[in-house]
Amino acid sequence: MVLTTISCIKADVGGLAGHIVVPEELKNIARKHLQKNGIKKKIIKDFYVFNCGDDLELLMTHSRGKNDEKVHKLAWDTFVECTAWAKKTKLYGAGQDLLSDAFSGNVKGQGPGIAEMTIKERKSDPILVFACDKTEPSAFNLPLFKIFADPFNTAGLVIDPHATAGFKFEILDVYKHLMATLETPDELHELLALIGTTSTYAIKRVFKRGDLPPEEAIAAEVCTEKLNVLAGKYVGKDDPVAIVRSQSGFPATGEVLEGFSLGHLVSGWMRGSHKGPLMPVSMEDATPTRFDGPPRIIGLGFNLANGKLFGPKDLFADISFDLTRQRCLTVMDYMRRHGPFEPHRVSEKELEYTTLPRVLEKLKPRFKKVK
Ligand code: F6R
Ligand code: MG
Ligand code: MG
Repeated sequence: MVLTTISCIKADVGGLAGHIVVPEELKNIARKHLQKNGIKKKIIKDFYVFNCGDDLELLMTHSRGKNDEKVHKLAWDTFVECTAWAKKTKLYGAGQDLLSDAFSGNVKGQGPGIAEMTIKERKSDPILVFACDKTEPSAFNLPLFKIFADPFNTAGLVIDPHATAGFKFEILDVYKHLMATLETPDELHELLALIGTTSTYAIKRVFKRGDLPPEEAIAAEVCTEKLNVLAGKYVGKDDPVAIVRSQSGFPATGEVLEGFSLGHLVSGWMRGSHKGPLMPVSMEDATPTRFDGPPRIIGLGFNLANGKLFGPKDLFADISFDLTRQRCLTVMDYMRRHGPFEPHRVSEKELEYTTLPRVLEKLKPRFKKVK
């Protein structure tokens, strides 16, 4: 049985005019590198290079399985070549996400974010790829809950006999690196008790319930690398990607997209320190400008055929998301008026990995015991 692995590996290796956008030249360098060192050398079958804000995203397909050293090295070398150009051009934050000088067998823990899934291709296999800028992995908690567990979002949970059994969620404690698996609808309330705490828990994977093998059951995977926790200091926000399968027993593409229709509040935005609405935008509008934001998400729709990617369709480039965007703009404006006050500014715990502790350190001697 031939299985296909979809690997989306991303890094911020430099932005134009600040942490705003990946220039076209940089994407072209990545494309050339992947063509020459990936396709020609038969390491990967296909690829698609894109960006969300200042994050460079390498989507690749192959039959080498997850965590493959050659695929990871290919991505790493691509980022290194892009960084060299970014440094020469003095792009802003050149090489910011490459935390080590040399590749150590896997990009995990080295700075880049990664979402990978191995699947048995169906008769027709729609694959949806989502990429965010100026936010963190748990930004996907609310939408993935709605998509896979909320019948008010996903009609298929009620109407499709292949979906009524529900889904299984892997939940990661992003600080302690502990994982728990919960199943819905049975443990719906307990699931919410965890994933509502977005500062600690992130949905890592979603599977169909039952006894299907993982390559058939896998429904979604989120990149959960915490860049600043890895680096031990503020480097940039994690800016996660997610891969979601749709149709034929999985939620329909429209049910998946419906999960992003609120424009829900997430952490990130300016200096990774502010809460704001996650605005679904077209690929062209993935340019976080006002106050380095607001946080953005783009969606790319592909069809997979024997490891080849057909597409993408720019999923949020549609008037049906105008109202969501309008709401996001109103909420953005309202949140901004709070300036440095919570809840616009994130909680103290979330600020731990920003530059604020350095400011507070200076004030420590000023505090005297109250008699
Ligand atoms: C957030 C982000 C930006 C920067 C901000 C300050 O993830 O990347 O909001 O934090 O532009 O950047 P520096 O400190 O590089 O001037
Ligand atoms: Mg940046
Ligand atoms: Mg970014």
